[in-house]
Amino acid sequence: MAKIAPSMLASDFGRFSEQACAAVAAGAEYLHMDIMDGCFVPNISFGAGVVEAVHKACPQALLDVHMMVNDPLRYAQDFIRAGASIVTLHQECTPHLQRALAFLRQNGVRAGLALNPATGLETVRYVLDDIDLLLIMTVNPGFGGQKLIPAMVDKIREAKALLQGRDILLEVDGGVSPKTASGLIEAGAELLVAGSAVFGAPDMAAAMRQMLA
Ligand code: DX5
Ligand code: ZN
Repeated sequence: MAKIAPSMLASDFGRFSEQACAAVAAGAEYLHMDIMDGCFVPNISFGAGVVEAVHKACPQALLDVHMMVNDPLRYAQDFIRAGASIVTLHQECTPHLQRALAFLRQNGVRAGLALNPATGLETVRYVLDDIDLLLIMTVNPGFGGQKLIPAMVDKIREAKALLQGRDILLEVDGGVSPKTASGLIEAGAELLVAGSAVFGAPDMAAAMRQMLA
């Protein structure tokens, strides 16, 4: 059964924790937290202090921290302390990937690996023993509200085959909407990040149900 992880990037930043708790009350088990440094991606979002505030406000939420930053290991520990359940690193900015993923698990969080749209799946098979989650970016990271890149649907299908028989969650991120969700789920996506489609909807619970229907 697929799940929706609302992306807090699309929430009203003036009411951040309140919106996080509302998403949980609307049925979200995971909250997706987009960390952007203005270097790896051309946008700046928020840091570990904000993640910690959400963790305190709704401790039952599983915080899915997506690190779009250069040198992510320099900051990973801060997000772990802040209450992350999953920390996801991008392959493109993590030269010693296996070591970095192992570090996350050793520090008590689930280890995620993210791939930009044009990054191939080759690396994944060498770290299958080291990851708990694979995140296929369905847009180029940096901004919410973008259109899903259609070629990513085949990539999700290939990723699904690669993960077969393993306890690794397949997550997709970017351009998830009531229009695109069914095709993504059909291709094998299990955790669908949705920002604008959740926080831009008049009824979050209904929007999530509609995407999973
Ligand atoms: C993009 C972020 C996404 C973003 C998704 O860089 O990683 O998580 O918030 O936003 P939507 O769902 O609006 O495409
Ligand atoms: Zn994200």
